[in-house]
This record gives sequence, structure tokens and C-alpha cells, in this order.
Amino acid sequence: MAAMALMLVAAAALVAMPAEAGDENVVFQPCADAKVQRRDGFTFGIAFSGRDSFFLNQSLQLSPCDSRLSLSSRGAQLAVFRPKVDEISLLTVNTTTNPTINRGGFMVAFAGSKYAARSSPVFVGNSSYAITSFTLVLEFHKGTLQDVHWKTGSCSSCSGKSSMVCLREQGCAIKAANCKGQGGSVDCSIGIQLAFSGTDKHDAVLNSWYEVSKLQQYSLYGLYSDLKNSLTTRYDNIF
Ligand SMILES: *[C@@H]1O[C@H](CO)[C@@H](O)[C@H](O)[C@H]1NC(C)=O
Ligand SMILES: *[C@@H]1O[C@H](CO)[C@@H](O)[C@H](O)[C@H]1NC(C)=O
Ligand SMILES: *[C@@H]1O[C@H](CO)[C@@H](O)[C@H](O)[C@H]1NC(C)=O
Repeated sequence: MAAMALMLVAAAALVAMPAEAGDENVVFQPCADAKVQRRDGFTFGIAFSGRDSFFLNQSLQLSPCDSRLSLSSRGAQLAVFRPKVDEISLLTVNTTTNPTINRGGFMVAFAGSKYAARSSPVFVGNSSYAITSFTLVLEFHKGTLQDVHWKTGSCSSCSGKSSMVCLREQGCAIKAANCKGQGGSVDCSIGIQLAFSGTDKHDAVLNSWYEVSKLQQYSLYGLYSDLKNSLTTRYDNIF
């Protein structure tokens, strides 16, 4: 599932990842159009940069694939993922090894060229705070990505914890001084709960967003045994 590569946006041209069984989607680049069915892999990107760098003339938001933004010359970073369509996935971006990511400010999720879909920029962190938990919904219409939304988190998991604060709009944030690499002991890597909605190219309904929305967001982390240590440590043990 969450194969991830981190590189400059300019290098996004080709992402070589082997297709898994049942995956008939031959499009591996986030800046190309794909038409998918359930169980295909789907490649999309997340770009990290300052908020203004996602806008042309500070007013028109473009896809990070659009060369007019010149994201690479602004030091933006890119993570590329290939989750399976309609499977609930937890994606991670390791900020211990890439500390500039949650100080860069904002991230935008995107895919496609002619049908370029991109999310609004969402705040990830600055020198004071790091946000580590996100939910992303990829919405398809007949197998083509139509829309990408971030669902904002609630603050219920941070109330009463001195290392965390509740930021309006964004949900819980960890005070940056508690993060590894900045003097603290918490792994402030970003975890993105991913879900799908809409329809695939055969008009089959994608249900995983419905499933995620019915569950408590944090209870899902227990399903991902490889991440259990970092994630449950972050939320349950340290504070
Ligand atoms: C952006 O600004 C430049 C220079 O001010 C101008 O030439 C260009 O037409 C503007 N583009 C848009 C889309 O507003
Ligand atoms: C991030 O990388 C560091 C150093 O390689 C590692 O110790 C840490 O467990 C990783 N965190 C996650 C969430 O993978
Ligand atoms: C960091 O972000 C928070 C929340 O958006 C904001 O209140 C604060 O002023 C920012 N701090 C810096 C140093 O930019």
C-alpha cells in the first residue's frame, strides 16, 4: 500500500513502483489522468510548501503539477502515494527525517492533468506547532478523480494534554518543542487517514469514506500494526 517517495516536485515525472496483483491501472505519475476501478492502485501526490506558493498572483489556486507555480524552485517537497482504490489506508510522512515539512506551513493533495484535482492548502505546522493527524477523502466520478477534501479533526483527543493545543480549523496540534529533532521526544510524523467516495469506472460505489466516517478516527490507528508504536505512543503513552 503506502509506498512513499520524497523528492522535489520537479522530479515527479516518473515514479517507479511495481503494480500489485489486481491492479490494472498503468498510470504511475501523479500529474497524469487515470480512470480507475475498485482494487486498482491510484497514484496521487501531496506537495508541502508555504500557502502563497500554491496560488498564482496570490489569488488563483493551481494544481501543483502546473509549472506556472514553479514549486520546485521555491523549495517545495513532494510525497507520492499509491493506495488501493476503496481500501482504507493510513499514509505517513516521516518528519523526523524531513524536519522542514511540518515547518513549511501547508500541504495540498492532488492528481491528474486534464482533470486536475487538488485540495485546498491545509496547515501542517510552523516553528510553534505541528499537526500530525489528518483525514483525506478522494472523490471519484466514473473512475476519474473529481475532488480532494481534507476533513478537519476534532480537538477531543488533546483536551487536558499540556503538550498539545487545539487550533481552531485545524484540530489538535503538538507544541513543536515536544517534537523529536526539536528538543522533545514525540515523533511528530504526519499520519493521513485516507478514504474514497463516489463511483469507479464501472459505476461501482466506493464505500470506504462511509466506513471511516462511522468510526472514531483514532480507533483506526490500532489496525495498522506496523505503525502502532509511533502512533499510539504519540497519542496514548507520552502525555
Ligand atoms: C499575474 O500577474 C502578472 C504580473 O503582474 C500578470 O502579467 C498576469 O497576467 C497575472 N496573471 C493572472 C492569472 O492574473
Ligand atoms: C521516522 O524515521 C526515524 C529515523 O529513521 C525513525 O526512528 C522513526 O521511527 C520514523 N517514524 C515513523 C512514523 O515511521
Ligand atoms: C503558527 O501557526 C499558528 C496557528 O495558525 C499561529 O497562531 C502562529 O502565529 C504561527 N506561528 C508562527 C511563528 O508563525
